[in-house]
Amino acid sequence: MRRCWWHGKTAYQIYPKSFFDANGDGIGDLQGICSKLDYLKELGVELLWLSPVYCSPLADQGYDISDYYGIDPRFGTMEDMDRLLAEAKARGLSIVMDLVVNHCSDEHPWFQRACQDPDGPYGRYFYIRDCPPDQPLPCNWRSYFGGPCWDRLPGWEDKVYLHVFHRKQPDLNWENPALRQEIYQMINWWLDKGVAGFRIDAIINIKKHLPFRDFPADRADGLCSMDRVLEQTNGIGRFLSELAEQTFRPHDAFTVGEVFHEKPEELPQFIGDGGYFSTMFDFAPALINTSEKGWYDRRPVTLEQYKAACFASQAKAEGAGFLSNIIENHDEPRGVSHFLPPKGRTETGKKLLAGLYFLLKGLPFLYQGQELGMENTVFSSVNELDDISSLDEYQVALQAGLTPADALEAVGRFSRDNARTPFQWDSSPNAGFTTGTPWLRVNPNYTWLNLAEQQSRPDSLYHFYRQLIALRRSSSYQETLVYGLTEPYLPEEKQLMAYFRRGTPTLLVAGNLQSTPYAMHLPGPVRVILSNLKTCTQENGVFHLAPFQFVVLASI
Ligand code: GLC
Ligand code: CA
Repeated sequence: MRRCWWHGKTAYQIYPKSFFDANGDGIGDLQGICSKLDYLKELGVELLWLSPVYCSPLADQGYDISDYYGIDPRFGTMEDMDRLLAEAKARGLSIVMDLVVNHCSDEHPWFQRACQDPDGPYGRYFYIRDCPPDQPLPCNWRSYFGGPCWDRLPGWEDKVYLHVFHRKQPDLNWENPALRQEIYQMINWWLDKGVAGFRIDAIINIKKHLPFRDFPADRADGLCSMDRVLEQTNGIGRFLSELAEQTFRPHDAFTVGEVFHEKPEELPQFIGDGGYFSTMFDFAPALINTSEKGWYDRRPVTLEQYKAACFASQAKAEGAGFLSNIIENHDEPRGVSHFLPPKGRTETGKKLLAGLYFLLKGLPFLYQGQELGMENTVFSSVNELDDISSLDEYQVALQAGLTPADALEAVGRFSRDNARTPFQWDSSPNAGFTTGTPWLRVNPNYTWLNLAEQQSRPDSLYHFYRQLIALRRSSSYQETLVYGLTEPYLPEEKQLMAYFRRGTPTLLVAGNLQSTPYAMHLPGPVRVILSNLKTCTQENGVFHLAPFQFVVLASI
């Protein structure tokens, strides 16, 4: 594998709206991020991915862009952005922007011009079709946020436009070379400005299955999931290689794709040497137990399933490319609430999950607040849900016959809002996030779960993450932890998740996945490099792992 400048770093996702509010309007902003750069530096992360801060009506929290060259006034100004880039650079931190180019906002001038003149040049930036009201829609695909993915083109009774996400997110027509050039120009403008690269949103959707046609319906609404459509869609490579050639590659930019449903044999084309992207997220753990029917039908995940998903991904990526590992992001529930069994939702359990995912091969990403072990929040009413996909899933659950209380409970477990509550800085009102009224309610547990408390306590999860990040960067272990092969150890042991990272030295990473002790046979004499508990007991070739104990061992 060709070595890249970013391989040894740790990445951190900032959700700007909920990170830190510098001006008291209840919304996090760029000045707020700027004021916390020293905090991030101290944590040890070096690549900072910002969820979108471009001009946007925020129908989907900024993933609906109305001006790719502007900063939304709620987040600040272009001067604030320039300052952030400069201040980050001065600290050796790289800024990675979100690139949302499958769709834009219906308030983008391109779409407004398309509505004025659907047959003109901007009409060809979108997918617009003739469709009189008494005719069926061009196809029966279900939008990711519910309902058909076609809506009436504003101002036209007999025309519809495609949106695979929200109706305020019209899909851009990548078949049109003029649109592609416009996008490349914009990307290069940002790269020339000094951003290190991009996290690339929903990119697998840019290639449409054409001509539009119905797929077998999979729910009573007569529609078909986009997942099924994507499985049958071919030919995205042409767009992605052109994109890389004209933008990322000449800049040696870092890119991480949000890619679902790639074809397994295509992995090297996506992230191998000379691939479309530097890396892409491993969503295998996030997809465990998802149901065709909706969130209400999802069963809880077990750590045993988590282990199987991680090992399968490690094997798949070996020799093919470098994956990015996560336990949560702004679209997922909090990792500690989702992956840990109830008895493991303690600081010890949180450290176990942290260590197990962080030391896998690949690029580790932390999502803001993960370093504190922030947890899912409680929703006492549907009115407290802001996220559009949660509101849709709530309706789906009601239609399936759940009571409103059960529907709220089911949706609450998976709501994207769990990850979007404000960062918990300290125990002052609103967790120190804002002096105003936060746009989304702070998780009430901030009184005890907050950064100030954890910074003052050396055995906190926060300090454990700092140790993990430092370990991966240390001169003794970096080579092993960044490039060493992952080899599962005793994978058939249900209670254990353990793997070697092969190198000089080889490390053994091991965790007890259950609430009862586990005696792990050792491959040879070892010393402890890191543990989530003070006591480590080994005798006669056996390591006695306490409930949810996590260790990193080196042979002696
Ligand atoms: C991605 C984003 C998500 C957004 C969607 C549409 O999945 O991560 O937040 O809703 O794309 O842009
Ligand atoms: Ca603000």
